[in-house]
Amino acid sequence: MLAELLDARERETGLHSKRVACHTLVLARHFSRDLAVLRQIHFGALLHDIGKIAIPDAILLKPGPLTPEEWAVMRTHPETGYRVVSEIPEMGAAAEIILSHQERHDGTGYPHGLAGGAIPLGARLFAIIDTLDAMTSDRPYRKARGYDAAKAEILRLSGTQFDPHAVEAFLAEETTLRQMVDLKCHETSL
Ligand SMILES: [Fe+2]
Repeated sequence: MLAELLDARERETGLHSKRVACHTLVLARHFSRDLAVLRQIHFGALLHDIGKIAIPDAILLKPGPLTPEEWAVMRTHPETGYRVVSEIPEMGAAAEIILSHQERHDGTGYPHGLAGGAIPLGARLFAIIDTLDAMTSDRPYRKARGYDAAKAEILRLSGTQFDPHAVEAFLAEETTLRQMVDLKCHETSL
């Protein structure tokens, strides 16, 4: 319900959160078959941007580029989301993924500038899927690009923005992910 509320506010169409949660699980299966681990990764991906509920409309929905002051406000969303979700019993690992979902492999992300293995696995996997979903979805200011364009971008950013091991999992699961992206699938049944 929380994820759908956020999608309804921020996105033209819903289902972004469900899609990225489902597609992140495709990568996560590569690293773990532990259902408790997978469940936390699913919830972390599903609720990654939930802290944006606290961002004012004038910033969240601004059509043009943000000012440095507005960016500073926008960059509070991982910590806000962490605070909310870490209050829920047994959601600690999901909350850590939410806190770290804007981090980058090379340490240039936020809020803490974590690098490499210091970033929770779920957040490293999610980062690839979020880029895939963003590039293959229509936005008000541009049309969706195809799967191959998104793949090229992910490969280009392997080792800087993205964990190379996570990119390897992405390549290994490519057939499934391509089908899911083409179908705009948000079910976990594939
Ligand atoms: Fe975010």
